[in-house]
Amino acid sequence: MAIRNIRVEGDPVLAKVCRPVTEMNDHYREILDDMTETMRSADGVGLAAPQVGILRRLVVVEVDDVLYELVNPEIVSTEGEQYGSEGCLSVPGYAGNVKRPMKVTVKALDRNGEPVEYTGEGLLARAFCHELDHLDGIIYTSKADDLHKLGEDEEDSEEDEE
Ligand code: NI
Repeated sequence: MAIRNIRVEGDPVLAKVCRPVTEMNDHYREILDDMTETMRSADGVGLAAPQVGILRRLVVVEVDDVLYELVNPEIVSTEGEQYGSEGCLSVPGYAGNVKRPMKVTVKALDRNGEPVEYTGEGLLARAFCHELDHLDGIIYTSKADDLHKLGEDEEDSEEDEE
């Protein structure tokens, strides 16, 4: 496994729509592993492939010590609404409030190409939505209504970066 460089906002790769993975293989499994290591080393709760410069529909999310590897993920249903703070590893030092569904069900393929379905609530639902947006070139800053720079005190606090 290897830690990859995280692209930051302004990098054109983050604005592109990613292509689906047509067949899971060791190449993509290695990318998933690298994404997980990169996410963990940056204390993030999620990472999408374009954030490490790869224009494929691959996402990792880790919430409550459960790792979700999502290949070609799609949201199949949503429920309710939540409004709260969000950050992004590609937009270091900033946070903003974004409206998201409270509950989200995602279907995807796992690392072996087998179909999986996950339902997440709260932070997990928020992370799924945030990461799937990255696959379509969307960064949360375009949805946040009060984007602000974090102060030094806040920098180490509870902000979850995705
Ligand atoms: Ni992000």
